[in-house]
Amino acid sequence: MKRPYAALTGTGYSVPRHVMTNDDFAAIGIDTSHQWIFERSGIVQRHIARDGESTCSMGADAARKAMAKAGITSAEIDAIILSTATPDRLLPSTAVDIQAALGATRATAFDLSAACSGWLYGLTVAEGLIAAGTIETALVIGSEKMSAITDWQDRSTAVLFGDGAGAAIVRRGDGKRGILSAFMRSDGALAELLWRPSGGAAHPFSLPVLEDRSSYVKMAGREVFKHAVRMMAEACDRALDGARLTGKDIDLLIPHQANIRIIEATAKHANVPMDKVYVNVNRFGNTSSASIGIALDEAITSGRVRTGDTVLLCAFGAGFTWGSMVVRL
Ligand code: ACO
Repeated sequence: MKRPYAALTGTGYSVPRHVMTNDDFAAIGIDTSHQWIFERSGIVQRHIARDGESTCSMGADAARKAMAKAGITSAEIDAIILSTATPDRLLPSTAVDIQAALGATRATAFDLSAACSGWLYGLTVAEGLIAAGTIETALVIGSEKMSAITDWQDRSTAVLFGDGAGAAIVRRGDGKRGILSAFMRSDGALAELLWRPSGGAAHPFSLPVLEDRSSYVKMAGREVFKHAVRMMAEACDRALDGARLTGKDIDLLIPHQANIRIIEATAKHANVPMDKVYVNVNRFGNTSSASIGIALDEAITSGRVRTGDTVLLCAFGAGFTWGSMVVRL
């Protein structure tokens, strides 16, 4: 059997109820403005977790919606793959918490760490497990409580991120619809351009770590921007080549939602006009590995794409990691 081995049969997303606008930063003592944030990133607001909302609760909520749309029960799930940079605790995985919340008792569950590219990595891993005959049905989730690792005293990063989760059910396909191509790449030599220096096993939490704030996200914004534009472009090329398609064949491009300028540069390179590009970074900010799943579910639910349409997904994130995928819905 040749590709497509695996199809996305249901999607869902979940975001916290609380909305924080650009103007709300003044109230927490951050010296910024709506104009600065909007001009550089396209972000207007983001959702921020409160009152016990967690990576697990958002992920499980998105998963239930995806299962309902796919018309399956949790008993049918063979694997739960959770992409997250913000696990609720360090051991064991947050995927097993989601498994317990869903009652998906016969599944295997594990976390996957590839930052903003992680949901595409997860879909690709699921496709491989299905193609190998190891599983029939996977639940792939990207869930992020970025507000928990954001330095709320650092205006250069605090304004960019938001919380949320996106999910998809991936099942053995009918050989016509599904994942037509996938591409993944990383470059660990560039890890320190976007990272959390402390808080892991090398530099565990301690009083000095809390005081120097080195457990929060640090980002060299301009450097990250340059690499993101180049790597997202490469990712689009590789997925299109793999599917033997060009930008003209794409009904909708869904790039990782980090920054409108990166999205526009990616669309231009891929030769996809902006009216065929999904943008919601204005409403959600950068939700890391949740962003593409949220956008894909919105695009399907709103009728922007339909069964049989061809979508190009591409992402870039800390690591660096980057990746892409062409999917026939
Ligand atoms: N409000 C007001 N001023 C600010 C803010 C803020 N929130 N943040 C920084 N500034 C100031 C800086 O202090 C600096 O002032 P100075 O010139 O007096 O020193 C000035 O604005 C310019 O700072 P830069 O960082 O050079 O601003 P730049 O134009 O590069 O924009 C930005 C910053 C938006 C972060 C940009 O670099 C960017 O988009 N980078 C990519 C970030 C990204 O998308 N990351 C995620 C991708 S990977 C992933 O999703 C994990």
